Amino acid sequence: MKADVLLGLQWGDEGKGKIVDVLTPAYNVVARFQGGPNAGHSLAFNNIKHVLHSIPSGIFRENAINVIGNGVVIDPVIFSEEIQQIEKLVKHIKNNLLISKKAHLILPTHRMLDAAYEKFKGKAKIGSTLKGIGPTYTDKISRNGLRIGDILSGDFLEKYNSLKEKHNRILKSYNFSEDYSDYEKKWFEGIEQIKNFQLIDSEYVINDFLQKGKSVLAEGAQGTLLDIDFGSYPFVTSSNTVCAGACTGLGIAPSKIGEVYGIFKAYCTRVGSGPFPTELFDSAGELLQKNGHEFGATTGRPRRCGWLDLQALKYSVMINGVTRLIMTKADVLSGFEYIKIAHAYKKDGQVFEQFLYNIEGNIEPLYTELRGWNDDITNMRKFEDLPVALKNYIKFIEKEVNVPVWIVSVGPNRDQTIYNPNYTSKN
Ligand code: GDP
Ligand code: IMO
Ligand code: MG
Repeated sequence: MKADVLLGLQWGDEGKGKIVDVLTPAYNVVARFQGGPNAGHSLAFNNIKHVLHSIPSGIFRENAINVIGNGVVIDPVIFSEEIQQIEKLVKHIKNNLLISKKAHLILPTHRMLDAAYEKFKGKAKIGSTLKGIGPTYTDKISRNGLRIGDILSGDFLEKYNSLKEKHNRILKSYNFSEDYSDYEKKWFEGIEQIKNFQLIDSEYVINDFLQKGKSVLAEGAQGTLLDIDFGSYPFVTSSNTVCAGACTGLGIAPSKIGEVYGIFKAYCTRVGSGPFPTELFDSAGELLQKNGHEFGATTGRPRRCGWLDLQALKYSVMINGVTRLIMTKADVLSGFEYIKIAHAYKKDGQVFEQFLYNIEGNIEPLYTELRGWNDDITNMRKFEDLPVALKNYIKFIEKEVNVPVWIVSVGPNRDQTIYNPNYTSKN
């Protein structure tokens, strides 16, 4: 078997959590491959919304094994809080959740460093979620990090103190201090909680699953435009959010990747700083924000909103080798007389039809206008019933991007999901 991958094509929050939860019944295993508690993956069933940060979004489906892969970074405090929430609903969690021994630990001082670096950057700050993501991956790459497997070793406390000391020296040079003793106490309680789970060599376990014909869905966090290499650097996260990240974050060979599900909102959002060519500052933007309830699932910050950006979408499709598109939040576009899609950018009088190295500054998106629709589509369940204008919008995107739209999501709930009967596999 090959592993399928689901990942975001924009600046995160595309609806990955909801769609992973919807797709999980078709899979034996769901595995998160990168990111950490900077992610907030929402899913809703029986009209109750759940937000996951470190735990894969297949956890509410009884028969699925959920794996936190080696590419993920874990904060034991946030992990424990999540477990306490989920445990009430998922009795089987200790059997169904496996954690890679090679996943890295976010220390309390990583969070402090995140805050110190952001403060130092002033106006140029990234707009980090302040969960310690950047400093943790920095330590991983510079070979100073602590891994989940270390918590089982006799000298764990020594290793912890040595890294903490290193961090404290940096924090001192930034003149940054905060009392984190309470957090540290909870952190060590969280470590004990983690010990209750199966800590595994996830690369062996996942490859073994594939070998035995079990189906695996790899769940990405963030989105392609936040990728450390391909996103709008430096306003990005610190991991590879793209499909290749599923290989390094789980230990799956490239030849073992099957379908690549690329998920995008019917418009664009971004939370935090950084360039966003199609961002709206008018009533249309306000409407998208209001109707889409665009507030961050992790930080509660309002998300910036704008029209769909085709060049960005094509770029993401290219980098990831997307085989199927999934469009979410189509319902939020109801009520617009016209819907705009940026097909190119104009910069210094020149027209560009690609995602530019530098999308900052006076870059003007060039728009195609398509007719909108008024119908409330949140109760529609058949593709045929969708408004013609929405079907035209979908066709336009498919033609431009050259990948078929497989699923259209019309609301946050599990059942608000429509499969496109016109979809034919490109694989
Ligand atoms: P993720 O990080 O990609 O999992 O996405 P988030 O959970 O951060 O943000 C997506 C938000 O949109 C959540 O509040 C979801 O409940 C909600 N959502 C997902 N799909 C739809 C949809 O099709 N329509 C509407 N209106 N909301 C959706
Ligand atoms: P999900 O998985 C949206 C953004 C932050 C900030 C930048 C760097 O829910 O889609 P970091 O904390 O990683 O150092 O922040 O990336 N960011 C996200 N934006 N969705 C996310 O995750 C995000 N994770 C990080 O807002 O701009
Ligand atoms: Mg999110």
